[in-house]
Amino acid sequence: MSQHLLLSLVILAISPIPGALQDTAVSPTQEEPEDLDCGRPEPSARIMGGSDAQPGTWPWQVSLHRGGGHICGGSLIAPSWVLSAAHCFVTNGTLEPAAEWSALLGAHSQDGTPDGAHVRAVAAILVPDNYSRVERGADLALLRLAAPAKLGPAVRPVCLPRASHRFAHGTACWATGWGDIQEADPLPLPWVLQEVELILLGEAACQCLYSRPGPFNLTFQLLPGMLCAGYPEGRRDTCQGDSGGPLVCEEAGRWFQAGITSFGFGCGRRNRPGVFTAVAPYEAWIREHVKGPEPGPAFPSQPQESHSGLQELRENCTIALPECGKALQPGTWPWEARVMVPGSRPCHGALVSESWVLAPASCFLDPISSDRPPRDLDAWRVLLPSRPRAERVARLVPHENASWEDASDLALLQLRAPVNLSAAPRPVCLPHPEHYFLPGSRCRLARWGRGEPAPGLSPLLEAELLGGWWCHCLYGRQGVPVPLPGDPPHALCPVYLEEEEAGRCWNDSRWSLLCQEEGTWFLAGVRGFSTGCLRPRAFSPLQTHGPWISHVTRGAYLEDQLAWDWGPEGEETETQTCPPHTEHGACGLRPEAAQMGVQWPWLAEVHVAGGRVCTGILVAPGWVLAATHCVLRLGSTTVPYIEVYLGRAGTSPLPQGHQLSRLVISIRLPRHLGLSPPLALLELSSQVEPSPSALPICLHPGGVTLGASCWVLGWKNPQDRVPVAAAVTILTPRLCHCLYQGILPPGTLCVLYAEGQEDRCEVTSAPPLLCQTEGGSWVLTGMAVRGSRELFAAIGPEEVWISQTVGEAHFLSPGGSPYWPPEGSNLCHPDIAGASGSPRPALFLLLLTPLIQG
Ligand code: ARG
Repeated sequence: MSQHLLLSLVILAISPIPGALQDTAVSPTQEEPEDLDCGRPEPSARIMGGSDAQPGTWPWQVSLHRGGGHICGGSLIAPSWVLSAAHCFVTNGTLEPAAEWSALLGAHSQDGTPDGAHVRAVAAILVPDNYSRVERGADLALLRLAAPAKLGPAVRPVCLPRASHRFAHGTACWATGWGDIQEADPLPLPWVLQEVELILLGEAACQCLYSRPGPFNLTFQLLPGMLCAGYPEGRRDTCQGDSGGPLVCEEAGRWFQAGITSFGFGCGRRNRPGVFTAVAPYEAWIREHVKGPEPGPAFPSQPQESHSGLQELRENCTIALPECGKALQPGTWPWEARVMVPGSRPCHGALVSESWVLAPASCFLDPISSDRPPRDLDAWRVLLPSRPRAERVARLVPHENASWEDASDLALLQLRAPVNLSAAPRPVCLPHPEHYFLPGSRCRLARWGRGEPAPGLSPLLEAELLGGWWCHCLYGRQGVPVPLPGDPPHALCPVYLEEEEAGRCWNDSRWSLLCQEEGTWFLAGVRGFSTGCLRPRAFSPLQTHGPWISHVTRGAYLEDQLAWDWGPEGEETETQTCPPHTEHGACGLRPEAAQMGVQWPWLAEVHVAGGRVCTGILVAPGWVLAATHCVLRLGSTTVPYIEVYLGRAGTSPLPQGHQLSRLVISIRLPRHLGLSPPLALLELSSQVEPSPSALPICLHPGGVTLGASCWVLGWKNPQDRVPVAAAVTILTPRLCHCLYQGILPPGTLCVLYAEGQEDRCEVTSAPPLLCQTEGGSWVLTGMAVRGSRELFAAIGPEEVWISQTVGEAHFLSPGGSPYWPPEGSNLCHPDIAGASGSPRPALFLLLLTPLIQG
């Protein structure tokens, strides 16, 4: 009773505010007595992309707390009633108990005990019966406070629109809240209420934006009772923690609540405006549920001029295009920034927003005294394309764990004044953490950091991105599972589309990797100094740093993925690990389900002058092993003209394949084998870079690995040279010896073809014998003996010769795999002795006899 009296006094005390009188013409009293003044803040004057609100601007803003912290927003609509969003209070289909919630009213900042603010317990929470999930609509809730709010300058109710109220699209309205200021970036202390101006989007325009394909596989349909507000280009939006808060529009001096913050896809993303629960359609529901002795919410009729100004304009569908990552000409990058620090060479970085440049931290910080940041920023300058003068630097923010490894060797430099963006300078796009650069994406390099590239190096190289399995297994760490598509990659690997120019050394330079999607360039990765002279091959992905970059810059251009491929339904998602590396790196890799592209990366076509073609196997970056009889004419002493082609499994080049050819500059034969050695090593005119089109096979020291599955790899038709693999079993030396008694030179292996596999490849190509170990590596086990399908010169016994000649051959460590057991016996089963003419029937017999001589 006394409380009621007090309340009326308060209302009386606050009603004669300036501006209130002239509004009486449009006041709603004609239709219905309204005893509550609403929608008028004290005259004066998260939200993503917003700014601090002035105290008292949004006196209806409520913060709803549970467990001592802010969870959602709300709006005061009557002394004892708060409007909010249903999803704030419903978890797994059940309404949370009201007793766990409290409402903070009149707060501006939430740091410490806000003055002028007060708290009310929540007595009841009401949610529409048909609410289930945000995307299905009806996302609103009414909260009854245990005691009426103390109305005052900082605490006043907002006006609610009647069901007939229309808010014209194109109207600028305001959303407020204490939510995140960007995705996963909470509002920092002192938690000052944020406000942002948002444009009401019509239903058609909103649905059109949301229907644009994007990284969120959308089935979302804008429903009646929802409204959209924001901008096609994004950047300003509500975000997590703003839910339940109001979207208000001013009409004739009063603020009407048009919407309740409900949901969105990410925050502030392009073509993904925020979705709000429209309040007007819920007039009846609100009136029905707000009951009690205190005054209810005010539903003033819509001011005349606002209503008449409403023609339902036909909305056009304005899709926003990316504002970042456009380059007229690859190689002249509009985001290229050169940071000039007195006394050192320019450091190359990239412009990521109007005011921020990303560059390696190691350009600016001394690794030894990294705790001492440089103090002479005054003298630093940043050169940007098409800018008449150098920019000055205001601040240097090194990555929180800036290390001198590629992965986090990053720093952000803030320019003293933002630059106007145009064709140049223009920022590069940055990927969100969940970005998945598709295998085969087109990429190029840009200068990065301070390293000086060798003169003549062309950064205009085009490259294609390798698939995750290949990138991980070529350069990844052993034992670390291969990241699945969609998980953050450990590395990004470009495969260059042009041949390396001989003699160039990429040793002393650093590069960033730019990858293109639908004509837009993303800064995909960065790489420190390369090892050896090879071109940079594995880049540290930048996408994991997106949150840090946007946290610091508050406005870097993080752009959604523009190209994707959801792949076939139920794609295999088994975790895989890579076969072991040797001391010279990866060898013998072949993806399980051979994907598109070259299937046998070590398979070479050896073209001998005169038209003969035989099989060669890449055993090191500059060496191919082939059968001697194929490359050398009997009795000839001169080295013939031989060309070797790699990456050419089949006549037509395959999507991810990349053909390369080399001349053979010398042929080496093992000295100890006399006049007709079966194996020859061909030295190539220059090395090949490891890739899925040209990767050395593994070798195994000593013998043959037991338990391995083995194949003869050749061509069915020497003309089209499509590789075929025939499954075989390698016979034990004793069996082999017995079968071919007396005629086999030492170090010869015999194989038995699996049923029906015998005729799969041609003998004339001199096919190799390959085995896949249990670890998954492919090992070269033998090369065909002239004219034979069953006999192979074993590679194992040639280990010394091969490693001395080649240096970088990939020998797997012998540990773990057993060899043929030593055999002393000369005993041969009588049935097979001398049966070399046709070993098959005899062999069959032998295999059926249970391991006779044990
Ligand atoms: N559902 C969010 C919350 O609970 C609000 C998200 C709004 N998102 C947006 N992009 N507008 O706070």
